[in-house]
Amino acid sequence: MSTEGETSLDKLIITGQRRLTGHVEVSGAKNSAVALIPATLLAEGQSVIENVPRIRDVEIYMDILQGMGVKTWWAGEKTLAVDPSGLNGTKAPYDLCKKMRASYYLMGVLLGRFGRGEVAFPGGCDIGSRPIDQHVKGFQQLGATIAIQRGIVTLSAPNGLAGSCIYLDVVSVGATINIMLAAVLTPGTTVIENAAKEPHVVDLANFLNAMGANVKGAGTDVIKIHGVNKLHGTTYSVIPDQIEAGTLMIAAAATQGDVVLENVIPKHLDPITAKLREMGAEIDEDGDQIRIRVEGPLRAVNIKTLPYPGFPTDVQQPMTSLLSTARGTSLVTESIWEGRFKFVDELKRMGANIKVEGRTAIIEGVPSLSGAPVRATDLRAGAALVVAGLMAEGETEVSGVEHIDRGYETLEAKLRHLGAEIRREQEN
Ligand code: EPZ
Repeated sequence: MSTEGETSLDKLIITGQRRLTGHVEVSGAKNSAVALIPATLLAEGQSVIENVPRIRDVEIYMDILQGMGVKTWWAGEKTLAVDPSGLNGTKAPYDLCKKMRASYYLMGVLLGRFGRGEVAFPGGCDIGSRPIDQHVKGFQQLGATIAIQRGIVTLSAPNGLAGSCIYLDVVSVGATINIMLAAVLTPGTTVIENAAKEPHVVDLANFLNAMGANVKGAGTDVIKIHGVNKLHGTTYSVIPDQIEAGTLMIAAAATQGDVVLENVIPKHLDPITAKLREMGAEIDEDGDQIRIRVEGPLRAVNIKTLPYPGFPTDVQQPMTSLLSTARGTSLVTESIWEGRFKFVDELKRMGANIKVEGRTAIIEGVPSLSGAPVRATDLRAGAALVVAGLMAEGETEVSGVEHIDRGYETLEAKLRHLGAEIRREQEN
């Protein structure tokens, strides 16, 4: 695997039009893991997190914590242990923080636990402007002072923190999580209104409650947090990855496949399932499994990305690949990240007929795509190009694989297991 920012040496070579069949296990959720890992620092004792995906973003987080004196180690294949007792300061290392967005959760954690912190302004996927004004507003309403200088966010609370009512102007997953992290140890009651309802917001609330916090209402748009004095370490299992599951469902549909996904929460997949059914896929849910079958051509549909329980922006790009060969005209509106249609130019090189007007892509379904060398410029764009490669006639070379490695655990091995012809090679 390569580190974001370093030159990738890997590319994926896909020979398309191989039907995917069989069973595949979905990994633990990336976006949940990267919130739970820093949350462990809110306790003095050791925590154990199970079902953690072995992805680059998790490795970067482990490196960040180790740089702060925290011991992290794999206690099992997917079990991560964190012992924060050696935490030696409130500064998060800049070189690592700039590599991943979720490093900004250390702002809430350090502020909540120590009343101060210094964290580099976060990096992450280039998918559009990514402001943190709602995080800052939330911290300020708890009583913090925030200064942003030379790429470093410095947080302090000269007069201490106190619970408060915070109304988010936009539904933000990151701000909701960061305010929760800051508020669990803050005296008094904090109310977050217009909170994000994503599954990983609920997962974090459950994790914090398992550590002794008092968080209520996660999964609705009002979250109430009663501050407690102390949290303790705990053992907890990460929820399945909604986005990886959605990507694999789309990959199955893209190859007229018949695939059973194991270790999923079907409810989390409702917005994706509904659209795939509308396109003509047959989908059956059974406990923690979901089966998707496609026979014959798929129909065009219209999609608008929205906060949960709407259609997830993180699945928009793979879905756009799939729609590029659906019968008819699809309209896809991206309402969260304006940069998430940049990859459409790569799809066009494979023969897709897509016009982007502002935040909407107009997709005229073509009979098939043809393999080509393409480059991933962000995580989900990478997954989308893999889906396109699986559908295309001939060979597709996807470069920029370091983006995929940040968030998908062994994607090509899972696809190969299902019958895809896909291999990893070093780029020249
Ligand atoms: C989280 O990003 C996810 N990342 C993203 O996953 C996901 O695309 C996004 O939520 C939306 O679901 C993690 O969980 C680590 P937001 P986040 O704050 O928290 C605006 C992936 O591929 N906004 O919910 O950064 C913002 O511009 C990714 O796995 C403000 O205006 O997203 C956007 O339009 C990448 N001010 C909207 O809100 C703020 O202070 C939603 O952003 C914060 C956000």
